Amino acid sequence: MSNRPPLATTVKNPASLARRLRLPTRLDRKVTVLAWCSFVAQVLVIATGGAVRLTSSGLGCPTWPLCTPESLVNTPEMGIHGLIEFGNRTLTGLVGGLALALLLCVFQLRAQRKDLYILASSVLVGVMAQALVGGITVLTGLNPFIVGFHYLASLTLVCLSALFVDRLGAGARTPAGLASPRWLKNSLWATASLTAVTVVLGVLTTGAGPHSGDAAAGRNGFNAVILQHVHAWPSYLLIVMTLLLALVLHSKKHESWKWAALLVAIQAMQAALGIFQARNGLPELAVGFHMVLASLLAATTAVIFVRTQGYLMSQSQQA
Ligand code: HEM
Repeated sequence: MSNRPPLATTVKNPASLARRLRLPTRLDRKVTVLAWCSFVAQVLVIATGGAVRLTSSGLGCPTWPLCTPESLVNTPEMGIHGLIEFGNRTLTGLVGGLALALLLCVFQLRAQRKDLYILASSVLVGVMAQALVGGITVLTGLNPFIVGFHYLASLTLVCLSALFVDRLGAGARTPAGLASPRWLKNSLWATASLTAVTVVLGVLTTGAGPHSGDAAAGRNGFNAVILQHVHAWPSYLLIVMTLLLALVLHSKKHESWKWAALLVAIQAMQAALGIFQARNGLPELAVGFHMVLASLLAATTAVIFVRTQGYLMSQSQQA
């Protein structure tokens, strides 16, 4: 006879269930691969979400949670718009599955790696919440404020997934945050805040612009041309500030100068793309790249910010 506890007892006791499911007890290469897949999938969601909006497929599936009142999935009569919108919905299953798998991978290690456990749980909860927000987006006929919130939430999930990847390798690193001087921590606060302001103003610019996701969708009522400039100004300030930071760090031979230089390169590319799209009537492909690059910029900024401040440190690093 087996000496295992009955299943009902096991289910009530998460630790026992985890042992029974043979969840990993160490962070091996498989977890790293899974974490990278999760990060890439989150970026892909931004790209496909962009494709939905930029091909006017926002109401390709006119209702939610079903695609049409009669069908869960898109039908051939709905054409390419239905296919694109439903494709984006399907991706939620993939990111959700990856998020759950990552949470299970770190469950047994939740005492030693609280940082990874918090990040994995946040991503899973965020993906579930995003599925609901996506539904509300459709049910409100693509309200531009909801569409903007949906994008910002996705961007946050990209940042959290990037932080997870970064924290996986943190066990072997010195606690850079503790070693960061106060002026560097303050500079990163300014950089992160200015990035957030630029991104939010960008989202408002989009909400006023021509790419609404469907011909029938409303706009937020702001003047798109004025907003475009208001969005661009803090981005220029951001680039100058980060460039100065990189130069100061380089002159002080601080190892973070490489990170700051990478940030300047991404910011400059993003601004160049912004200027290009603004001067050329907002071509869909350029706008799509601008959306995706913004998420990579936010993720890089988040990683540098968290490292510099010394947030989310593992137990061994705090000791
Ligand atoms: C660090 C620099 C920049 C960042 C992080 C950034 C970020 C963003 C973001 C997040 C959006 C909203 C995307 C969406 O809601 O789907 C956006 C939209 C936009 N950005 Fe930028 N941006 C930057 C620089 C610029 C610059 C310099 C310009 C030049 C004028 C520009 C022009 C635009 C325009 C026109 C839109 C609206 C596109 C549309 O109507 O679909 N951006 N930006």
